[in-house]
Amino acid sequence: TEVIIVKNEREAGDIYGRSVADLIKTKPNAVLGLATGSSPLAAYQSLARIVHSEHIDVSQVRGFALDEYLGLPLDHPQSYHSTIHRTVVEPLGLNPDLVHVPGDVLDGAPLSDGERIAAAGPAYDKAIEEAGGIDVQILGIGTDGHVGFNEPGSSLASGTRVKTLVEQTRIDNARFFDDDINKVPTHCITQGIGTILKARHLVLLAFGSGKAEAVAETVEGGVSAFCPASALQMHPHATIIVDEEAASRLR
Ligand code: F6R
Repeated sequence: TEVIIVKNEREAGDIYGRSVADLIKTKPNAVLGLATGSSPLAAYQSLARIVHSEHIDVSQVRGFALDEYLGLPLDHPQSYHSTIHRTVVEPLGLNPDLVHVPGDVLDGAPLSDGERIAAAGPAYDKAIEEAGGIDVQILGIGTDGHVGFNEPGSSLASGTRVKTLVEQTRIDNARFFDDDINKVPTHCITQGIGTILKARHLVLLAFGSGKAEAVAETVEGGVSAFCPASALQMHPHATIIVDEEAASRLR
């Protein structure tokens, strides 16, 4: 695992932006793995700046998001479908038909629709495979070491599947739902750790002292389901980009 320590999110974003822009120049239909959350925002902005200033053709670029809530209609402002469109598809000018989010086929299906919901995960993994796999997967990390919605205890071999959200994550995310935990979905669909490990290049971004413990555990701890992000140690091409605060617990 390669660790790069940068001054700020902007510098981290520029490293991602440059490398993905160069990838798209050599592979116009590159497959990008996309994350929501705050950590990748500067990276998407940097990529958008480069794409526009260098007039890079992104019309064939494909995308697969990491995760989605269950039970929200796609056009709900807090669905990850909406978020990915707002933060990635629109600023970059991607073809929305080529960008997929795990819950797309469900569009707010009720939890009682068990069969349909259970089929969505394997279908998503199949779609990624049929696209030839993900070229670059961008990742954030939770303070507890989660990646995607793979909370501690998740199988390191898991594929895309439905999970229940842990209480802490629902409390953390209540700010996006009128500070009302009852409005936060109870379930999600997320790429598994096994799915994430199949991407050819992983880029994990972490900023701020709140992430320091999780970053140290990810880079220097044992590989363990207690810290799902530690699975990155098993990947042949993983890059972890952190600021000094997030790096402060590294030895
Ligand atoms: C996002 C995701 C989450 C976040 C993580 C960090 O799609 O799956 O795992 O990456 O919770 O969130 P931020 O970047 O907001 O600190």
